Amino acid sequence: MLVLGVETSCDDTAAAVLKDGRTILANVVSSQDQVHGPYGGVVPELASRQHIQNILPIVDGALKQAGAALADLDGIAVTYGPGLVGSLLVGLSLVKGMSFRSGIPYVGVNHLEAHLLAIQLEHDIAFPYIALLASGGHTLLYCVRGVGDYVHLGGTRDDAAGEAFDKVAKMMGLGYPGGRIIDRLAQSGNAKAIRFPRARLKSGPYEFSFSGIKTAVWHFLKSLPDSEIQARQADIAASFQEAVTGMLVRPTIKAAMANGVGRIVLSGGVAANSRLRAKMKEEAGTAGMDVFFPAPKFCTDNGAMIALTGYHWLSRGRRDDFRLNADADLTL
Ligand code: KG4
Ligand code: ZN
Repeated sequence: MLVLGVETSCDDTAAAVLKDGRTILANVVSSQDQVHGPYGGVVPELASRQHIQNILPIVDGALKQAGAALADLDGIAVTYGPGLVGSLLVGLSLVKGMSFRSGIPYVGVNHLEAHLLAIQLEHDIAFPYIALLASGGHTLLYCVRGVGDYVHLGGTRDDAAGEAFDKVAKMMGLGYPGGRIIDRLAQSGNAKAIRFPRARLKSGPYEFSFSGIKTAVWHFLKSLPDSEIQARQADIAASFQEAVTGMLVRPTIKAAMANGVGRIVLSGGVAANSRLRAKMKEEAGTAGMDVFFPAPKFCTDNGAMIALTGYHWLSRGRRDDFRLNADADLTL
């Protein structure tokens, strides 16, 4: 069964071809970092215009790389939410058009579900597992009991973890997207140099909050002359990263213990963070649990996870009709 996956929910235009839910024949991504970089964040109108320019070459490129023609496909999967509505509509409209013209069935995929299942692209992991989904738009904790069976355990009350990385990088004048830059810079810094506050929420054991640390970094930067910020850049990055990753690891381990689940999966762009990976592995190891991470290219937005999720639903007989609309606020 050959499935094309198309993803345009935010600022990456991506397509992939997946065979039998296992073999990735093609996985092509065009990132818009250069376009949004000067603004320090995604500009929705620019994102949708870029998707319009990129989508045909990306989909064609994926099919070519897979050595497949449109007629060879058994189904098409496309993200229909959540995300930026103008961006979502580009992928969804294209796929509806392809499906209408060719008669090949298509399904709309929930972007969050795709992140939760992305690990299965590379590892056969038995259900259930605890999944921490940390990206630029979301910080969520789920117990994944099977395809279509997701128990929401908690999430952020304010900013997403990736958003905190991006905003702190912007405050420090480091560029966009900030996560990867801070991760790299932190490698030469002292994570204990500055003690930024870690939010501990009383309202729920699996809740996250990142607005406090963002403000704390802002006040810290304001208190220093530019020359000192420059000199202590790596220490600030490492200390900030240490605090954020600590806030992500603790509730995740706690959730796994409380649910009696011995497998933890990381997903979303922030799951590419080297310190988060190391710390989660260390603490899960101490608790006798296993941790699994997707390769960085499957942590950030990609077409392969959309194709995989679509494969599961198509093979269960789901088909969407042409009335399906983009849903910016789609939940799981
Ligand atoms: O999953 P993703 O590609 O898009 C969303 O659905 O949001 O995640 C992008 C986010 C950005 O905030 C980016 O700064 C962050 O993931 N990110 C990282 C790293 N690589 C990407 N954050 C921390 N460390 C990284 N290595
Ligand atoms: Zn994402």
